[in-house]
Amino acid sequence: MCGIVGFIGDAKDANAVDIVIEGLKKLEYRGYDSSGIAIVEQNGQLVVRKKKGRISNLEEFIADENLRSGIGIGHTRWATHGEPSDANAHPHMDASGRIAIVHNGIVENYAELKKELIEEHGIEFRSETDTEVIAQLIGLYYDGDIEAAVHKAIERMTGAYSIGVICSEEPNKMVAYRKDSPLIVGLGSNCNFIASDIPALLRHVRQIYLIENNETVILTKNNVKILDSQLREVHRDVFNVTWDAEAAEKEGYDHFMLKEIHEQPKGIRETVTRRMDDDGNIVLDGINMTKEDLEKFDRVYIVACGTAYHAGLIGKFAIEKLAGISVEVDIASEFRYRDPFVNDRTLFIAISQSGETLDTLAALREAKQKGARILSVVNVVGSSVARESDDVFYTWAGPEIAVASTKAYTTQLVCMYLIGLYMGRTKGVLDDETYKKYVDGLLEMPEKVQEILRQENRIEALAKKLYKRNNVFFIGRGNDAAVSYEGSLKLKEISYINSFAIAAGELKHGTIALIEQDTLVVALATQDRLLDKMVSNIQECRTRGAYIVGIAKKGRDSVEEHSDDIIWIPECSDELSPLLTVIPLQLLSYFIAKLRGCDIDKPKNLAKSVTVE
Ligand code: M6R
Repeated sequence: MCGIVGFIGDAKDANAVDIVIEGLKKLEYRGYDSSGIAIVEQNGQLVVRKKKGRISNLEEFIADENLRSGIGIGHTRWATHGEPSDANAHPHMDASGRIAIVHNGIVENYAELKKELIEEHGIEFRSETDTEVIAQLIGLYYDGDIEAAVHKAIERMTGAYSIGVICSEEPNKMVAYRKDSPLIVGLGSNCNFIASDIPALLRHVRQIYLIENNETVILTKNNVKILDSQLREVHRDVFNVTWDAEAAEKEGYDHFMLKEIHEQPKGIRETVTRRMDDDGNIVLDGINMTKEDLEKFDRVYIVACGTAYHAGLIGKFAIEKLAGISVEVDIASEFRYRDPFVNDRTLFIAISQSGETLDTLAALREAKQKGARILSVVNVVGSSVARESDDVFYTWAGPEIAVASTKAYTTQLVCMYLIGLYMGRTKGVLDDETYKKYVDGLLEMPEKVQEILRQENRIEALAKKLYKRNNVFFIGRGNDAAVSYEGSLKLKEISYINSFAIAAGELKHGTIALIEQDTLVVALATQDRLLDKMVSNIQECRTRGAYIVGIAKKGRDSVEEHSDDIIWIPECSDELSPLLTVIPLQLLSYFIAKLRGCDIDKPKNLAKSVTVE
C-alpha cells in the first residue's frame, strides 16, 4: 500500500533526501512497486526522481547526483491507476514543473477532471495516474499561494486520499491534507515531518499529531498549523508514541494477521464502493465482456490455490446463481495436469492474492494456450497473473503481510459476487429487484463484519477453552461447507492443530467414525434453507460425545440448543453469509495459535508467495 514521507528543516543540519528515503524504507513492509522523491534544491529548482521497483533502484539512480535540500517529499507506490512504472511512480508534478505532490488513496472523479484539464486547459499528462490530476489541478489554481491552490483543488475532488505538496516558489512551506486516508505529523526540533504511518518517523520523532479527516496542515521548519474544513485553526493534543518500531508497523496489533483481520471492513467497503456509480450500479472497470461474449461461453472454470481456491468455491455458487452459468472450480496444481476441456468458448477465472503463485500461473497459461478468455482476480497490481490476463479485476485489500490470508479472502469473495452480478446483469438474466438486494447486502457488510469484530473478547475466551485440542472438525452445508474448508486451513496453518473440514452431509459416509467423546466440532449453520438438516448433523456428532461450537445467525435457537458454545453472526442472506461466517473462524484460529505460542505471521514451512511447483 502507498506510503508518504515528508521532511522540512534546515539543509545545513539535515538532508531531506536521506531522511525521506530512510523513512520510505521503514514503510517497505507494507508492499510497494515503485518509489520516488521530490525536493527543492538550494537554487530554487524542483527536482523529482522516481523509479519502478525497490527503493534501492531509486538510491542507485540518484547516487551520483549529490542532491541536498531542507525540504522533501517521498512516496512508495502500490499501483492502482496505471501499471507500476517510472512514469506512474510518485511524486507527480504540475505542467509548470513548480509543484510536486505525493498521494495515497483514490480520486474517484479523476477521469472527468482529467478530461476537463486536457480539453479546456490543454494540459498534457505524463502518467496514467489519478495523482497527476491533483498535481495539475493545484498547478492550474496556483497564483503565488500554494495553500490556497491546494484548497481550491480539494474542493473539486471526491474520493479518499491524503496528499503532501511542495512548491519551488515557496520552498519554506509544505502543505498536506487528509481525507479518509491516514496522515500524521511528526514534531521535531527545528524541523517537522509528515507521513502516512508512524514507523516512517520513529527514528526522528516520538511526538506526533494525528491528523483528522478534512484537515489541512501547513508546515514550516518551526511551525505546524492545522486547519479544519472551514479553514479555522484547530488545536491538537500531542500523541506520544511509546511503541517500538516493530509494534508501530503493526499499528499496535500484536500480529499482522490480527491487524489484517481488522482491516476487512475497510477492504470490503473499498472493493464494493469503488465499483459503484451514483445510481448504485456496479461498474467493473477491469472487465470488458459484452452480452455476446458471455453468451458465447459454454464453460467457466475458476482455478486457484489454498485460500483463493476456497474463495472460488463461493464464486461458483455466486456465478451459477446470479448469472445462470455452470461453473467448475479446480485446484490449480491439478488443473494443468488433467488435460482439461478448454477452448475458445471457455472463460477461465484465476484467483490469486499475490498474482505470482506458480501453479495458478501455469494453469492460466495452459488455458490461454488452448484459447480460453482469461479473467483474473488479483490483489497485486502488475503481478504476473494480472499481466497475462485478458481482463483483470483487482481486490482492494491492500498489501497482505501475514502468511495466513484473511483480508484477501473476503475481498476475493466480494469480487466473486460482483462478477456474478455483472454477468447476470449483462446477460439480462438478473431482475432489478434481485440485483438491488445483493448490492444493498454487500454495502451493509462492512458494518456487519465490524459487529463480529466487536465480539473479539468472547472469541478469545472461547479460544482459551479450546486451544489444547489436537483434532478439530469443521462441518457445514452449501456455502458453509466452503467456508469450513477455509476455517480448517486457517487453523491448521497457524496453530499446527490437525483439522479436517467436510460437507456435513458426508459425515455419515465415513468420517463420523472419528467422532468420539470430546472431539471438537465447529459447526457452521448459517444457511437458513438447510438449517434443519444441519441441526440433524450437529445432533449426530453430539450424540457421539462431540463438543460443538455452533456458528449461526442471531435467533436460530435450534443451533444454540444443540451446541456447547455459540457464536452469533448478524442477519444476512444465505448467499452473502460467507463474508461474515469466516470472521469468527479467523479470530478463533488466531487466538488458539497465540495461546499455543506459534509464530503466527510466519508459520513454519510456509511462504507468502508460492512461486515453486
Ligand atoms: O497468492 P495466492 O492467493 O495465489 O496464494 C494462494 C495460496 O498459496 C494461499 O492462499 C495460501 O493458501 C495461504 N497461506 C492461506 O492462508
